[in-house]
Amino acid sequence: MDSCEFSQIEQQLSPVFEQHGYEAQKLLQILLDVQEIYSFIPDEAITYIANLLSVSRVSVKAVVDFYSFLSFKSVGEYRVLFSDNITDQMLGKNELMQYFCKKMWLEPGKVSEDNLLSVDSTSCTGMCDQGPAALVNGWPLTNLDQQRLDLIAKLIRDRNPVSTWPAMLFEVKDNIYRSEILLGKPSVAGAAIKATLERGVAATLSEIEASKLRGRGGAGYSTANKWSSCRTSPGTAHYIVCNADEGEPGTFKDRVLLNSYADLVLEGMTIAAKIIGATQGFLYLRGEYRYLRRKLEEVLAQRRTAGLLGRSILGELGFDFDIEIHLGAGAYICGEESALIESLEGKSGRPRNRPPFPVTHGYLDQPTVVDNVETFACVSKIAEYDSAWFTALGTAQSSGSKILSISGDCARPGIYEYPFGVALYEIFDDCGAEDVHAVQVSGPSGTLVSCKEFRRRICFEDLPTAGALIIFNRERDILQVALNSAHFFAYESCGFCTPCRVGTQLQKKIIDKISDGYGTAYDLEELKYIGHIMRTMSHCGLGHTAANQVIDMLDKFPDAYKNKLKKLVFEPAFDLDRALEKARKITGRDDKLAHFP
Ligand SMILES: Cc1cc2nc3c(=O)[nH]c(=O)nc-3n(C[C@H](O)[C@H](O)[C@H](O)COP(=O)(O)O)c2cc1C
Ligand code: SF4
Repeated sequence: MDSCEFSQIEQQLSPVFEQHGYEAQKLLQILLDVQEIYSFIPDEAITYIANLLSVSRVSVKAVVDFYSFLSFKSVGEYRVLFSDNITDQMLGKNELMQYFCKKMWLEPGKVSEDNLLSVDSTSCTGMCDQGPAALVNGWPLTNLDQQRLDLIAKLIRDRNPVSTWPAMLFEVKDNIYRSEILLGKPSVAGAAIKATLERGVAATLSEIEASKLRGRGGAGYSTANKWSSCRTSPGTAHYIVCNADEGEPGTFKDRVLLNSYADLVLEGMTIAAKIIGATQGFLYLRGEYRYLRRKLEEVLAQRRTAGLLGRSILGELGFDFDIEIHLGAGAYICGEESALIESLEGKSGRPRNRPPFPVTHGYLDQPTVVDNVETFACVSKIAEYDSAWFTALGTAQSSGSKILSISGDCARPGIYEYPFGVALYEIFDDCGAEDVHAVQVSGPSGTLVSCKEFRRRICFEDLPTAGALIIFNRERDILQVALNSAHFFAYESCGFCTPCRVGTQLQKKIIDKISDGYGTAYDLEELKYIGHIMRTMSHCGLGHTAANQVIDMLDKFPDAYKNKLKKLVFEPAFDLDRALEKARKITGRDDKLAHFP
């Protein structure tokens, strides 16, 4: 179906509006539901939505265009998206995708003629501990192999609705192998809020300050400083946002926290609300984790019933706070806090100019705290126990513990909570990693560490990380790591600023050229120069870090590319004579002068 009757649209979409309301901020949530109904966003629906939300058609179209899970054209009744992280590739993703496409007589990126199926790649789906992984109509498939794909092919051919497929295909395990203060010590729902009310708001903020808690989303900013600034910023309303976008390839610890420790996270958000004076909170859940939504809604409902959310929390008059879940739609940049706020407002997730920062001008231009899932979990524990209990673990500048998502070449990929300060080599034994050659710390935007550096420690003083740790043994081709990262950033750049939009594309082309055996010494210099431009001139953190893996490879892993280079000083990136073919056809010429010598 490529177009729809207006009256039909009206009938089918009115329940969507009844659920979400008629505010422009709900645009993305509405579009996600429309995509689910039709498997695309019909042009008539764009007009209908624009009218009801009082926004222009152009604004609606811009949002559809921005998010990879939305589409103007049908993506088929079944849309299978293979996760394209380096870990999925190491586990055979490319071969499996090829196998599946051959079986279904389909080319990647195309929709079958009967509109039944499309198959494509997508950025990391956050299942690196149980890959190769994929999404089918947004639901996660794990541990894929040929046998499972045969079954999936049959289910699709028989047109079985995804909701009736065998549960084992969708099984997502927590895989927790090591616990410390966050994962190992059970908490009773409400205990931390009770402790906050007994201690008082100012004293709880002082306790968080004394705990030296730093944000777990990557940048490591002091949580107490952020909350103090927000608390004192004037505004008509204050907001709390939990950043559960978790788009950094290789990271999946927030998935586990939300699945099995949701109370801890929601409790942290509620304490934050009490401290900064917010009545509304949002949990921004990445689209890939939408399977967690129902469970999270249940936890939210239980907390309302228990008096831990809603009006007069735990009987305290005036302590009103509730949390709404907002789904993302497949855009890594929406993890950046100002892009996330744009997305929460229903717009394309383009990073804002900063300053002003969200603590003064965030959601709807009001003071807003945006924190990572794990940061809120830490706050709950600090409030329930105290700062001394928290600082007993960790290093001078990195108190407490860090949850790591470990994957790649190791026997036990999964979740490991360590005190800050743990050295890389200490981790290898625990997860069963042997003959380690390199480790990617903190995803493609982080650091590629060589074996000379395995004594380095996970902490803000040395190797900061949002949580991803991917291990590569000696069999692995490090050039493929850099190539995967270059492709990821070229795909995920939001295109707003030139250094990143152009830089990520050039970087990808040159790495491809080297990988294909056409690279030269000149290309290496180009990569360094482009990396420098992106790092220093880009508008946001995505561009600042997009060259990290490539530069680390050039600096630390010369064997990965040296024997692939041509001896020439320069080799063009494309074949000029072949590029002239089109012009020759148009002019009907094929003489000697129409060819490049
Ligand atoms: C491209 C990009 C992606 C990001 N993705 C995330 C993310 O998925 N989760 C997260 O908590 N922070 C992410 N961040 C960092 C956020 O902008 C922000 O610093 C963080 O949510 C603050 O929370 P914290 O202080 O608790 O760490 C990202 C930053 C950039 C530049
Ligand atoms: S650096 Fe990249 S992601 Fe960030 S605003 Fe510029 S183009 Fe967009």
